[in-house]
Amino acid sequence: MEGKYLSPVQSDIISNVHVTAEGLLSKLTVAIDSWLPFSLQYFDVTSLPHTSLVALLFLGFVYLIYYLTRPLNIFIDLTGEKSDKFFKLPAKNDSMAKDLLVSRLRRDPDAKKLPLYPNGWFRILESWELGLEKVKYVAALGENFAVFRKSDGKVHVVDAYCPHLGANMGIGGSVKNGCLECPFHGWQFDGETGKCRNIPYAKKIPEFAKVRTWKSVEVNHIIFVWYHADGEEPSYEIQPFADIMDGSYTYKGRFEYLMDAHAEDVFQNFADNEHINCIHAPRMFMTGADLEGSKRKWLSYFTNLTQLTQWELDADLPHKSWGRNEVHIKLFNRITIIKSNVLARNIGPGYIELTQSTSLGNTRYTMCFTPVAPLTLRLTTRLYMRPFTILFGPIALHGLKNAFEEDIMVWNYGKVRAQQNIIKEDGSVAHFRRWYSQFYSKSSPSINCQDTIY
Ligand code: FES
Ligand SMILES: [Fe+2]
Repeated sequence: MEGKYLSPVQSDIISNVHVTAEGLLSKLTVAIDSWLPFSLQYFDVTSLPHTSLVALLFLGFVYLIYYLTRPLNIFIDLTGEKSDKFFKLPAKNDSMAKDLLVSRLRRDPDAKKLPLYPNGWFRILESWELGLEKVKYVAALGENFAVFRKSDGKVHVVDAYCPHLGANMGIGGSVKNGCLECPFHGWQFDGETGKCRNIPYAKKIPEFAKVRTWKSVEVNHIIFVWYHADGEEPSYEIQPFADIMDGSYTYKGRFEYLMDAHAEDVFQNFADNEHINCIHAPRMFMTGADLEGSKRKWLSYFTNLTQLTQWELDADLPHKSWGRNEVHIKLFNRITIIKSNVLARNIGPGYIELTQSTSLGNTRYTMCFTPVAPLTLRLTTRLYMRPFTILFGPIALHGLKNAFEEDIMVWNYGKVRAQQNIIKEDGSVAHFRRWYSQFYSKSSPSINCQDTIY
């Protein structure tokens, strides 16, 4: 039976017709040995007792399960020139990328009025990013925050810059006596009131020794800060997402993008029915940032994506709206192989909860849109599934990530918050714009496009 393409070990195994359990194990270990990397081939697997071999195989199996189920953590920066490389566009240097962004604003007659930061709850960190008694610096919404967690787990957010000589307390600061201690001269600030509680080298604490505090809430494994350009108190709350907070769905991974975009343009995606068949369907959530992806004929021969999207206001709560989406991926344009139903709960201008049922499994997502600088947006998505789901996690995460990359290509290079040249068939987009406008107020910062925006 020795064949042309069989190695001596393989043909030896095949030709051995007198197979006993012991003989098979011995042959198997020799076969495994032949497939091991060169450096491991000097390790004689047959010298191991059988129980050790079984233990080894078991450990390998456990590792495989871990590998297939481990939460993915993907971060991609698509700002400035990094975007050109990612989308394989002609390279330009970073200053040219900035010029392009400024010229995008100049082309927009309303650019000077463009409100940059909506009012609402915005993610500044995820819970895992801030350990006990740790401090982080976060720049977002045109503000600079020092975020710290006390030993009892409570999170506080204060202005990053120390009122003494201006050190950034989010960088090098520490948590001492339940306060945030500045790294420069050791002044300690209370996260609740912002007042200085201790100056290590002075008996009297001056009036000015006070730092601005920001309202924050930690829910759904996310730390949110309340931002309002006119200083108004929170007008709504972020509620616990029952499925992920009661443990019926567990964390399966996340992705995060930095991009040149306005939060409203990104959020609008969920009300824009027609873009799905145009930009997503030809790529089938498979090719992502690959601009040539839609030209691959085999994708269109074998699959077809049909969808139905609805967007509506919440009947009771003005800060809330709902998006529904049904997608069918079909084989030969006839047989539905995957059906997906998504319900999006849009909560304020920067946070969405997704509930998805598919024929492959169910998922829950939290999505956050945080403007970190003028026209720079951080998009973070966390995926949750039933505890013992394997394989479907990475597939679902990559599918959604690819879909976003197809959109980011448009947002990164298009006109920002374009005028509403909307036709009747664009459906919910105009409604969405009206709904979103409630999140701007009199003092919402805008950009003067004659100035430098960096
Ligand atoms: S700058 Fe913060 S204590 Fe001096
Ligand atoms: Fe999209």
